[in-house]
Amino acid sequence: MKILITGGAGFIGSNVADRMIAEGHEMSIVDDLSTGFEENLPEKAAFYRADISDGNAIKAVFETAQPEVVIHHAAQMDVRRSTQEPVFDATVNIIGSILLLEECVRMKVKKVIYASTGGAVYGETQYLPADENHPINPISQYGISKHTVEHYLYLYGYNYGLKYTILRYPNVYGPRQNPHGEAGVVAIFSERMLDGKSPTIFGDGSQSRDYTFVGDIVEANLLALERGEGGIYNLGTGVETSVQQIFDTLEAILKSGLKPIYAPARLGEIQRICLTNEKAGKELGWQPAHTFSQGLEKTVAFYKEKLSRRL
Ligand SMILES: NC(=O)c1ccc[n+]([C@@H]2O[C@H](COP(=O)([O-])OP(=O)(O)OC[C@H]3O[C@@H](n4cnc5c(N)ncnc54)[C@H](O)[C@@H]3O)[C@@H](O)[C@H]2O)c1
Repeated sequence: MKILITGGAGFIGSNVADRMIAEGHEMSIVDDLSTGFEENLPEKAAFYRADISDGNAIKAVFETAQPEVVIHHAAQMDVRRSTQEPVFDATVNIIGSILLLEECVRMKVKKVIYASTGGAVYGETQYLPADENHPINPISQYGISKHTVEHYLYLYGYNYGLKYTILRYPNVYGPRQNPHGEAGVVAIFSERMLDGKSPTIFGDGSQSRDYTFVGDIVEANLLALERGEGGIYNLGTGVETSVQQIFDTLEAILKSGLKPIYAPARLGEIQRICLTNEKAGKELGWQPAHTFSQGLEKTVAFYKEKLSRRL
């Protein structure tokens, strides 16, 4: 299949692209390299450097790439930046997505897979693990902009018959992770501890997230090529992991002897989240395959290798 991945030079998009190429798909990537890296781009992918909020540039990309499927990962994905620069956040995440959807309709794209966020659309949860029917109460501009695109997908499906699947990601960690993303703490702690430096825990370390390994998220994208039409799927492990537990698990792997530094909690961050995976199990056939410590072992191996290249 001819697949266009937006944000394919980034953490999750590049891992998805590698896997799709391994499965024999013809891959194009559009990315402005604002937070992604050229070194993440698979050799076999056609690369277009363009901003998704530039309508003319996107039109040209679609005309050359002629995609059958679009996997949409490009985004302003920094929660804190979204509160500081809400207009920029909305321009990339909402306007950029509308421009893409317009092109999908014009070019008769068969399906769109959208990387949404279960970590930011529900806000402070009323029950855990949160399922797809949990009330939507985002407490960041990022959560609002990511969720808004879900409405547009429904509308474009309703009005123009555009097929889509929405994947609500948990906090995704693993090789190539961006420290500014929703699970950035794993990358930051791994890099600091491998460098012999103590990581900082903001608050008492009890804040929890649903950390899911990127390889499992890649599998969900693969399954969504053929399944889950018109559906919204939470891709959680259903397990909460606290920041303190991240430190403890990393320390069990690294045996660094380091102690964390504790600093005051930061405002605007939710205290707890974890997501169900029952619907994704039933309708996509998806299950997370990695436990947190298995995923962390692979992540640490990646950062060890990265550090050795730097030395
Ligand atoms: N990492 C997580 O834990 C997580 C959780 C939930 C949802 N998501 C979603 O997954 C997607 C990928 O996130 P990631 O963690 O891989 O982040 P990332 O920053 O590594 O990847 C995003 C990519 O999009 C590109 N990009 C940004 N703005 C662009 C623009 N205007 N035009 C073209 N390209 C642009 C960046 O250069 C980057 O390569 C995002 O849509 C994010 O909202 C991530």
